[in-house]
Amino acid sequence: MNFIPYGKQSIEQDDLNSVIQTLESDFLTTGPKVKQFEEALCLYTDAKYCVAVSNGTVALHLVSLALLNKNDKVLTTPNSFLSTSNAILYVDAIPVFVDICEDGNINLDLCEKMIQQDSSIKAIYAVAFSGNILNQKKLKHLKETYNIKILEDNAHAIGSQYEEIKAGSCKNSDCSIFSFHPVKHITTGEGGAITTNSKVIYDKLLMLRTHGMTKTEELMPWEYNMAELGFNGRITDFQCSLGLSQLKKLDSFIEKRVMIAKKYDDAFQSSIIKPLYTFNGKSSYHLYVVRVSFKKLNITKLDLYNKLRDKYNIGLQIHYMPINKQPYYISLGYGKESTPIMDQYYQECFSLPMYPKLSEEEQNYIIQSLFETLDEN
Ligand SMILES: Cc1ncc(COP(=O)(O)O)c(C=O)c1O
Repeated sequence: MNFIPYGKQSIEQDDLNSVIQTLESDFLTTGPKVKQFEEALCLYTDAKYCVAVSNGTVALHLVSLALLNKNDKVLTTPNSFLSTSNAILYVDAIPVFVDICEDGNINLDLCEKMIQQDSSIKAIYAVAFSGNILNQKKLKHLKETYNIKILEDNAHAIGSQYEEIKAGSCKNSDCSIFSFHPVKHITTGEGGAITTNSKVIYDKLLMLRTHGMTKTEELMPWEYNMAELGFNGRITDFQCSLGLSQLKKLDSFIEKRVMIAKKYDDAFQSSIIKPLYTFNGKSSYHLYVVRVSFKKLNITKLDLYNKLRDKYNIGLQIHYMPINKQPYYISLGYGKESTPIMDQYYQECFSLPMYPKLSEEEQNYIIQSLFETLDEN
């Protein structure tokens, strides 16, 4: 069996054709494909505005510039990739790590308690972990009750829904971001996007994406004004044409992911392997995370990880090491927060391979290899 990674892109001939077409056109960047991709993302998510950028981290950075002020406290999750809280630090705001719920998402009830006790908390950066969209009723309540900004980090969750509310629609948040890294649902190589329903935020993001420059009618045609310190966060047209082509297939990609999740769920029923949450047909299953209580076994998580890689050619992945326990964060004084659910979760969690091109044969092989390895011990 060839090596099976935990995630992988699905690129087909139609994707290649659309990229080639754009490479042969007049615009490689700042051309029509960027706008088309943004419009298609608005249509897909129900958001009013979208700004496509060079990656998900840049999306988070620009959002932070638009939403936060220096020294704002921002509640966020330890269970994410580094970028979510790094983006808070980029703008000299202060991440405050809050424990997670059993489903891997930030505990919004705890957030509410903390907001009630500390008026310097100005925002929540919440991640829809693994593709499981945030509880929209709770976000709505927080948004309506308290004067706080909400960012939904939907890097894992494009295509997921909470009842009829789509990830990225920003129905109960100020902004949402996506990532189009190859392991995500759709890819542009590197890439990201921000959605919002606020024209003010949208205009600011457009300006920040291109060096803080604006053009107005009063200026000479060659002139531009730089009102703020912006960046080059642009994505190219050929990346956006790949994104457009991928977006057409997103629903079928998600269908495949959901089918794989169902198969894993069924296989692990009444075993020691516990799926992170009971089957959720509205999750877009970027990740398929399970928990095993290694304390009760003669095998450690590291043994399992190594054995599956070395003996079976299967790549497990761990999502995530708690961000607040990273050396850089410890150097800033973090790491001692009370996050018992996260700490136990990290002892037990691992992600199994999950991507649309994962064949039935590979799925069966993964399930069998996992049971074999755990049974041997
Ligand atoms: C939850 C989350 N947020 C943000 C990012 C950053 O996205 P990118 O890799 O496109 O910069 C990632 C990437 O893995 C992610 O998983």
